[in-house]
Amino acid sequence: MNYIKLGVNIDHIATLRQARGGIEPEPIAAAAIAELNGADGITIHLREDRRHIQDRDLILLRQTAQTSLNLEMANTAEIIKIALNVKPNQITLVPERRQELTTEGGLDVIKNFKSLKNTITKFQKKYIDVSLFIEANKDQIKYSKECGATHIELHTGSYANAKTKTAQKKELQKLLEAAEYADSIGLIVNAGHGLNYINVTPLLVFDKWNEFNIGHSIISRAVFVGLANAVREMKTIINSNLQMKIR
Ligand code: PXP
Repeated sequence: MNYIKLGVNIDHIATLRQARGGIEPEPIAAAAIAELNGADGITIHLREDRRHIQDRDLILLRQTAQTSLNLEMANTAEIIKIALNVKPNQITLVPERRQELTTEGGLDVIKNFKSLKNTITKFQKKYIDVSLFIEANKDQIKYSKECGATHIELHTGSYANAKTKTAQKKELQKLLEAAEYADSIGLIVNAGHGLNYINVTPLLVFDKWNEFNIGHSIISRAVFVGLANAVREMKTIINSNLQMKIR
């Protein structure tokens, strides 16, 4: 049984701030509260259109985050330059389209193999871990490994958004098989997108997850119970198997 890390995505704190273009709520404060309540990492996505996280957030978080700073980013020259300069602990490469509400679909590692490999090398030279956000697909996983990535993040969106129990079960099975395969070829396996306080539990059947990256459901719950409680509750759930074992 494996300790599963929780990466708290605080993009939506910045979304709320940007709604008024003011100074509150402050994402840096959110990161500190999340860390004080057990977050193992802080995740932010510096999007090309800067719709939520701003450059100053990234710079300040680099200086203040005490756990691990994971930057989600598109594989583009502008963002690569910023990231190489700021040096987060990890980057997660994601596909990005301006019109989307949130990241839709995983990277096509096969189609973008050369360019991804290039970017991965640049970051690894600076001792920054690289994770690729991909669908639960064997070929994508295989090419992620060949590309030189050490980590992948399996896209849990299709599972989280499944409309029926049967569809959800099918998506769960796909994720579990993909995770097993990725682990068997030596990749460190993360998961994220659409995970919440209910749908995260069935994923625990696979016991080698490295990290779950969760944003929307934690920030939504924080509105009612506070961010400290919301983070603690998620931590308890994702390591519930571990606690049973210790007892
Ligand atoms: N992982 C990745 C790669 C993402 O793009 C996102 C959304 O920003 C998340 C995890 C978190 O998703 P959610 O906000 O649905 O928990």
